Amino acid sequence: MSKDKVQIFDTTLRDGEQVPGCKLNTEQKLVIARQLDYLGVDIIEAGFPVSSPGDFTSVEAISKVVKNATVCGLTRAVENDIRVAADALKYAKRPRIHTGIGTSDSHIKYKFNSTREKVIERGIAAVKLAKSFVEDVEFYAEDAGRTENEYLARVCEAMIKAGATVLNIPDTTGYCLPEEYGEKIKYLKENVKGIDKVIISCHCHNDLGLATANSIAGAINGARQIECTINGIGERAGNTSLEEVVMILRQHPYLNLNTDINTRLLYETSLMVSEKMGMVVQPNKAIVGANAFAHSSGIHQDGVIKNRETYEIIDPEEVGVTESAIVLTARSGRAALAYRAKKVGYELTKLQLDAVYQEFLKFADRKKEVVDEDIHHIMKNVDVAVAI
Ligand code: KIV
Ligand code: ZN
Repeated sequence: MSKDKVQIFDTTLRDGEQVPGCKLNTEQKLVIARQLDYLGVDIIEAGFPVSSPGDFTSVEAISKVVKNATVCGLTRAVENDIRVAADALKYAKRPRIHTGIGTSDSHIKYKFNSTREKVIERGIAAVKLAKSFVEDVEFYAEDAGRTENEYLARVCEAMIKAGATVLNIPDTTGYCLPEEYGEKIKYLKENVKGIDKVIISCHCHNDLGLATANSIAGAINGARQIECTINGIGERAGNTSLEEVVMILRQHPYLNLNTDINTRLLYETSLMVSEKMGMVVQPNKAIVGANAFAHSSGIHQDGVIKNRETYEIIDPEEVGVTESAIVLTARSGRAALAYRAKKVGYELTKLQLDAVYQEFLKFADRKKEVVDEDIHHIMKNVDVAVAI
């Protein structure tokens, strides 16, 4: 059975850049945009052109250099936003305008002091205006996660009629459970006239740590675009992490969903974004964290040394990490010590290993991690090792 493609919509340069302190200049954005294009993302959300002259310049510059991906600019359902975005995107080979409005009762009441009907009218006008500039128009129903399904279906149907090519169903506040979000997508698939002519997109925030799970639930239920960021950066607790959704789809082939991402570039892209944005990746971050392929307990190390598959579901090389790390601590066993000692030049017999291990444990109890230099030091103290 052939696989269905899930488009990867990267919003590192828009939602990701909304993180306090992560502001990038145009040069830095261009470097990241080129890397994202090279990585194989389908859509790059380059910015929110009306928000500042700098963002306009960045979206325009990115539009000129991106070769393969669609370049997208965000707008509110506001005439001037849309005109400015169209202008910023004029050099793009494949431009997309991403426009929309809040559809939950809380947004309608508190943000707009409006009514459900008037919000639909504003959405239609925005999509039609965007459509007069570009063929590819994505509509977002902001806070769709907390929007009642029946009304959301009416919004979607109206936007399809107005010309939207992609319908974005954001869980803006990261509120939904995966079952609930998946059900929402299923409901739209089953109840919106014309839905099969457009792509449904997931845009999930991570306030409850469920952004990735919700996006996958959306894809399982028919969404064919996932909006995400490198390292999962974004407003508050962040967005869906690109590397996580890509690897989940790859590791679960029976879902019959795939992406065009060159996974071997994931790690270097993560490092680049972390460095340019000055935002450290948490060590235990899935796929790209410093500990994602590091083994430190004796039982795990012994297993991994015998066969990587005992404790690793991904070959690190598949995501661009050269090799798994066997980290030596007081919790490590003889197998790990022998393995690392061999790497730095010592082949130990069983007797030698026993002696060295006792010395190693004393050393490791005083130190958080035993590094290669420490191994040489331990060897000198024990004086039973034979250098190879
Ligand atoms: O989280 C959200 O709803 C958004 C929209 C502007 C797409 O970022
Ligand atoms: Zn968002």
